[in-house]
Formats: sequence, structure tokens, C-alpha cells
Amino acid sequence: MRHVDQELPEPAAQAGGIRAVGIERRFGRGASRVHALGPLDLDVGAGEFCCIVGPSGCGKSTFLRIVAGLVKPTAGRVEVTAATAHPAAMVFQNYGISPWKTVLANVRFGLDLRRVPRKEADARARDWLGRLGLADFADRYPATLSGGMQQRVSIARALAVEPEILLMDEPFAALDAQLRTILQDELLEICQADRRTVLFVTHSLEEALVLGDRVLVMSARPGRLIAERVPPFARPRTGEVRRSPEFAAMQAELWELLRGEVEQASTRKPDTDRERDREQHRNPKQGGKQEKDKEEVAS
Ligand SMILES: Nc1ncnc2c1ncn2[C@@H]1O[C@H](COP(=O)(O)OP(=O)(O)OP(=O)(O)O)[C@@H](O)[C@H]1O
Ligand SMILES: [Mg+2]
Repeated sequence: MRHVDQELPEPAAQAGGIRAVGIERRFGRGASRVHALGPLDLDVGAGEFCCIVGPSGCGKSTFLRIVAGLVKPTAGRVEVTAATAHPAAMVFQNYGISPWKTVLANVRFGLDLRRVPRKEADARARDWLGRLGLADFADRYPATLSGGMQQRVSIARALAVEPEILLMDEPFAALDAQLRTILQDELLEICQADRRTVLFVTHSLEEALVLGDRVLVMSARPGRLIAERVPPFARPRTGEVRRSPEFAAMQAELWELLRGEVEQASTRKPDTDRERDREQHRNPKQGGKQEKDKEEVAS
């Protein structure tokens, strides 16, 4: 299913599609149970770049982990259409790199798993390290790098396997503003040259608008999709779109959609039945609303 009306080049021969149907996730048991996510339905077409924004704690990382097959949904299912056996690579919010491996070995990791011959794997890993400005750090260990550099190792590791599906969880969050802009532009180029399917979580509306064919807005927890916008910028696009009046207008519109959800998430509701009970003892007049929330969590 395509959600952009401008002409796009044909997707790369290998680009996977994602269909999520009725996804829900709850964590914990009994009084500690938290309804983190859903229900949520989403179709991401082959070669589509889909960005997700939403308040902290609304289940974005959980959703990406479910798509990656790392977390099981409590309800619903994910169908991935792909040509290869390991179609997806993920860039984790907390980098997800191994501290005991050198930078080069970390970037080579996915290639080793796919049994790419060592010489070719080394060359590809070094190429991606170079593109991400880390050529001189191949033999270092992650603990000797800054947070932004570790984040780039994690990005290089995902890109090195040239996956059909890229799952990126705030991949640029730890970078300074200048490098972030440079890498956004580089990712645009990579994805437009060889259109991969990308599911990209970010807190930056600007980033979502520069990169996305589609921007999805999630509600406060339990996260559901509440709106979707299609940035009106033709492909191939460059970072120049940041300067257009439509860009500012859509950024403002998205912020209006998101503001209430962020406020709701930041005036944090109790997470669990146990916390609700405690709060009700302190503030018995709000019992009605808390009972309603309780039913939702228990359901
Ligand atoms: N393994 C877990 N066990 C218990 N609760 C969890 C677990 N993972 C996530 N949660 C809860 O699920 C909710 C959603 O978490 P998640 O990390 O998906 O949010 P997020 O939208 O990615 O937030 P952020 O923008 O801060 O990264 C939170 O309330 C979190 O505490
Ligand atoms: Mg997260």
C-alpha cells in the first residue's frame, strides 16, 4: 500500500513490507500490569520510509521490538514480506553494541551472522565506518568512544548488512545537532539510492518531516496511532526541504497533534493497579476516573 502521491523510483528488488494487525502489548502481571501499547494496525509498503513520533513511554520502542521479533505481542500479529531469511536490522535506542568487541567486530557482526566471507565483511564494515566518520576507530572498544560515536557504530552495524527492512529507534538522538543534520541527509541519500523499507522512531518532528514518506503520530500510553501526515516533498529530496514554508506549516500542525499527548504523558498517570490504589488513598475523590483506568488496564 503506497501513501505518497508523488512519482517514486521502483523499490530495490529486495525491500520488505510490514503489516501489523491488532498489536497490543501489556507488561507484568496482576497489580503490576501495564498496558503499554495498542491496539495498533499499520501497513508499511516495500520501499516506504515511515516515521513514528509520540510521547515518551507510549510504546514506540516496544512496537519496533515486536516488528523485529524480539518481543512477543500480547495480542495481534506482524507479517513481514521479504525475499531474504534475515530481512531486518535494528538500530537500538541504547546502541545495543557489544562492549567486549572492537568497533570493527561490532559493525561486522551482522555480516558474520550471515556468513559473509571475512575479507568482504571487513571491507564492508570499514566502508560503513568511513561513511560514518569512524574510520580511525575500527580497533577501539566501545567504552573508549563518546555516546554519539557509539550511536554511529550501531548505525553502521545495521547499514552494513544492507537489510531489506531497517528498524531505527531514535538513531540520531545522541548526536550533536550538526552531525545529526549531516547523517539525516546521508540517510536520505542511502534510502533514495536503494530504497529500503524503514520504520524510524524519533522525537524530532523536523527529522520525521525531512526523512519520511509518511509521519505517524502516536497517543500517550497505551500507544495507538492517532494521526498520519504525508510530507509534501517530492523524491529524491534533499535537506533543502527544511527551508520551505510547507515544512514549517506541517511541523506546526504535527506539534499541535502531539502537544496534548506529550502533556498527558508528562503529567504521568499511575502505571499500575498498585500505584493507582496508593494514589486513591491519598486522593479518594478521583476514585471514579481511577476505576475507569483500572478497568482498562485489567481488560
Ligand atoms: N520489559 C519491560 N517490562 C516492563 N515494562 C516495560 C518493559 N518495556 C517497556 N515497558 C513499559 O512499556 C511502556 C512503553 O515503553 P517503551 O520503551 O516502548 O516507550 P517509548 O515510547 O519507546 O519511550 P521513549 O520515547 O522514552 O523511548 C513504558 O511504560 C515502559 O515502562
Ligand atoms: Mg523508546
